[in-house]
Amino acid sequence: MPTVLALETSCDETAVAVVRDRHLLSNVVSSQIQVHQQYGGVVPEVASRQHLEAMNWAIAQALADSGLGWAGIDGVAATCAPGLVGALLVGLTAAKTLAILHNKPFIGVHHLEGHIYASYLSEPQLEPPFLCLLVSGGHTSLIYVKGCGQYETLGETRDDAAGEAFDKVARLMGLGYPGGPVIDRLAKDGNPQAFALPEGKISLPEGGYHPYDSSFSGLKTAMLRLTQSLQNSSKLLPVADLAASFQDTVARSLTKRAIACAKDYGLGAIAVGGGVAANSGLRLRLQEAAEAENLRVLFPPLKFCTDNAAMIACAAADHLKHGHTSPLTLGVQSRLPLSQVMSLYQSGGYSSG
Ligand code: KG4
Ligand code: ZN
Repeated sequence: MPTVLALETSCDETAVAVVRDRHLLSNVVSSQIQVHQQYGGVVPEVASRQHLEAMNWAIAQALADSGLGWAGIDGVAATCAPGLVGALLVGLTAAKTLAILHNKPFIGVHHLEGHIYASYLSEPQLEPPFLCLLVSGGHTSLIYVKGCGQYETLGETRDDAAGEAFDKVARLMGLGYPGGPVIDRLAKDGNPQAFALPEGKISLPEGGYHPYDSSFSGLKTAMLRLTQSLQNSSKLLPVADLAASFQDTVARSLTKRAIACAKDYGLGAIAVGGGVAANSGLRLRLQEAAEAENLRVLFPPLKFCTDNAAMIACAAADHLKHGHTSPLTLGVQSRLPLSQVMSLYQSGGYSSG
């Protein structure tokens, strides 16, 4: 049962955690959101500098919280793709340095594989195959999880990610960044049927619609037009109704595709991951629909849904268990399909004994 210390710096959270197999030993997350809020979104260069400032403290804290010394750590991991290149480099370089210094194997981790492993952390008994609905600020995918490093993407967004849509719609309504939590809060007092909005279906050349792919840019444009016309009519903007209608449209779209996909592929469980998994509208709709179809749906606790290093450590521990380690020449990549996860590893570098 390998114990891994992992670093996550792909976006605006500096995170370090220690995980033994699927069990959390420590979890430190230093969020930069307040720094980026004044710019209305994440500024990549600012993110890298913030990671540098928080990194040493976060590593020391995570190790101390775990109750272990370096002798108790079997490997050092870091997110290496996808993400902001400068931000990723801070974590990757720190992890490689620690691996060399303490003579441990180094494991590079794909950020989305980390989001999938968040479900194992909250439910250690979970075993593949299952469907993962990954909904974050940068990604919206339906992934067939077959095993460690074995993934098939069955559906995805053709344009904006679900979280990105929440952030953009919040910005156009003047609600600040990040948009998801504030829209979620406002939606509780609104009428989800107040405005009819487009769900974002993808037409197929042979006719009909793609069953699992989605689009959120049309919905965002519809929200822009609606907000502008309401503002022009000089009435007070019905923000709660707008938030509730938008949120319900996103939740309906994601739920419909996830349920269809799980049923078509004969998968009995849907594990949800990424920041948008925190959304109360999505939780409610998906839970209800899954129950009606006799499917299990797993929502990890919020601390494992949003970016954290525990999910990265959990993925790394499984790779280490399978003998997968990364060469110290591994670089960072802003994009990397999940199907290419195994390109990060060489076999035979570690024996779990
Ligand atoms: O997974 P995450 O922390 O970072 C990425 O890897 O992108 O996801 C961040 C995204 C943001 O777009 C944020 O607006 C969204 O998750 N989010 C939410 C909620 N909480 C965070 N979206 C909808 N409802 C929420 N409650
Ligand atoms: Zn993420």
